[in-house]
Amino acid sequence: MAELIPNRKIEGSSFKIVKVSQEAFKDSRDIILENYLAGNLILIEKYLPEVDINQFNFPALQTPNYMPDNISSLTNKYKDISHWKIKKAQARTAAQLIHTDKKKAEILLATMHSVEKQVGNLFYQLFQVPITSYSTWRFTRTNHTIYHLDDYNGILLRAFWNLSTCPRVWNIGHNSNDIIKLFGNKVSTFLQESAKQTRGEITTRKFNRYLNTLIQDCERHTIKFDQYDLWLIDSVKVVHQLKAGDKLGLFNYKINEVSKLANTIVERLNYPNYIRSSIENVIKKS
Ligand SMILES: [Fe+2]
Repeated sequence: MAELIPNRKIEGSSFKIVKVSQEAFKDSRDIILENYLAGNLILIEKYLPEVDINQFNFPALQTPNYMPDNISSLTNKYKDISHWKIKKAQARTAAQLIHTDKKKAEILLATMHSVEKQVGNLFYQLFQVPITSYSTWRFTRTNHTIYHLDDYNGILLRAFWNLSTCPRVWNIGHNSNDIIKLFGNKVSTFLQESAKQTRGEITTRKFNRYLNTLIQDCERHTIKFDQYDLWLIDSVKVVHQLKAGDKLGLFNYKINEVSKLANTIVERLNYPNYIRSSIENVIKKS
């Protein structure tokens, strides 16, 4: 079971964790969708897809800089052995890092792809439009990250699955609207300055990188995700900080045709729309 360690000193937090069982997911579609769009975290404890889960019972790679012996046997395509390609390896590379034996690597890879598809089905149940998936598998012990919002532009549906018997530990507590409200004057000044420079709409990347500079002293809660916990979050909306963990599947899905989504959903999924009214409020007040 995931364990939440609340911090009573936290300020300005409207962020929520919404738990749902794997069995109840489909019937809880509306409430899950609402909370995902609102920038909350959807948690399925002990998510067990229909695969041989024992395929994931291998030791984590020892350190972030660890260079496995079998790296040299990777195909040419994967010969780029820069640090992040091991730390955030895509499925095939990850399987080859774990198994030198080709057959074993292929079986693990097929298992990974099956999980990716089944988690994708959860998103399909929420959004009901075709999605394209890719996953990264993080089998090294992690370094701490800062308390941050992700900063990619565009829409990505994301889920995280802890495969380790060690808890995956995150600090959490705010969504980006909370941060805009907490630092209204600063955000307003930043937007006015940026508008002078760019004369256009600010990108998610630029805006979230700025918000990340504001939040480093904010109090935050801690959550420890247990083995096989799966959580769905829109990580450009939800502030998070990785504290510990060593084996994780991270699933990413792109919506093939955003135009096929209902307008009411696109408006809330689209990040600039999500933050628009908070921004208008802080500008009005300044
Ligand atoms: Fe992140």
